[in-house]
Amino acid sequence: MSLLMHTLHVDLGERSYPVYIGRDLLADSQLLARHVAGSQVVIVSNETVAPLYVEKVRALLGRRKLITEIVLPDGEQYKTLDTLANIFDRVMAENHNRTTTFIAVGGGVVGDITGFAAACYQRGVDFIQVPTTLLAQVDSSVGGKTAVNHPLGKNMIGAFYQPRAVLIDTNTLQTLPARELSAGLAEVVKYGLICDEPFYRWLQEQMPRLLAREEAALAEAIERSCTSKARVVAADEREGGIRAILNFGHTFGHAIETAQGYGQWLHGEAVATGMLLALELSARRGWIPASEVGDFCELLRGMHLPVQAPLDMTAQAFLELMARDKKVVDGRLRLILLKAIGDADIVDDVSESELVNLLQGTDHGA
Ligand code: NAD
Ligand code: GLY
Repeated sequence: MSLLMHTLHVDLGERSYPVYIGRDLLADSQLLARHVAGSQVVIVSNETVAPLYVEKVRALLGRRKLITEIVLPDGEQYKTLDTLANIFDRVMAENHNRTTTFIAVGGGVVGDITGFAAACYQRGVDFIQVPTTLLAQVDSSVGGKTAVNHPLGKNMIGAFYQPRAVLIDTNTLQTLPARELSAGLAEVVKYGLICDEPFYRWLQEQMPRLLAREEAALAEAIERSCTSKARVVAADEREGGIRAILNFGHTFGHAIETAQGYGQWLHGEAVATGMLLALELSARRGWIPASEVGDFCELLRGMHLPVQAPLDMTAQAFLELMARDKKVVDGRLRLILLKAIGDADIVDDVSESELVNLLQGTDHGA
């Protein structure tokens, strides 16, 4: 057992599960195996992550009778129904039954698609998340949102389906490209902004350590992020209310991702710019000081994250794409804004002209 492990719990009654966070968890011979009930396993990864980590995962599974390894092409553009069908083809061909366990080894793309495959296969089989990007470790692997994209909208086809366990080996971050690390840090900062002001202030101070991948700082950031995520998910698993605050910046961000074509902007980059827009709107409403917007912009710049929407995206393009957001209810757009740093709220009275002014009039000088 790793001495540096922390265990959090996502409290969802009979669907509760542990989130293990620590160094070298993929060298722990007990941890993963105890959550694999049967003798069949499907490991899903991608062509980048598989050579780095799949052998380690395999080694933890002992002599199970049937281990199928599925290596997907790498990229958001493959988070599709076609890829899902390919997974089912393999799993069916190799005769996996209802006792099989799907294990996702990779970032949010692999995690989301594997979770959805597990939710659908034989009406639901066990699955375990082994997230290897920071974004997946602090966000997508926890909380049971699974999905694939549709050409007309991101994550539009999916299910709420909780994993049996999440195993976060912080060592995996050492191989992550710098751009991906920054994108993940955007989601970390999100937790500070929406529900934990002391964490946000800590992040403003500690960002250089995080960017330098200092292990203790990363472990603390992951733990504090997952603690917030677990709390919000436990309060509102299927996003009937409060869980929507986790989408802070995402309505703008998803519009950017969809307009640019999946895979051009990283999810975390689009969310970063989206959070800046949401912060600006919050400031225009007088809820947070304008200086916080400037400070946040500086923080993003230090993280090498974009501070301006794509120049070729008009306000009209934003509005059209945002109208397809899953948070639109009865034609009313609901946005997450900040009443204060660390205090997000769901707002449904943002007018079109307010949005047009924001989208035409925001220039943070990228
Ligand atoms: P990703 O899965 O595309 O991974 C990013 C890149 O890093 C990929 O090229 C991947 O192969 C590579 N990679 C992964 N781990 C690595 C490692 N340890 N070392 C080297 N390279 C590694 O992207 P992501 O940012 O992890 O996830 C984005 C996806 O997550 C989007 O599809 C988004 O919609 C989804 N998401 C889902 C939720 C949710 O609640 N389910 C939340 C946020 C985001
Ligand atoms: N990433 C948003 C959520 O899990 O609800």
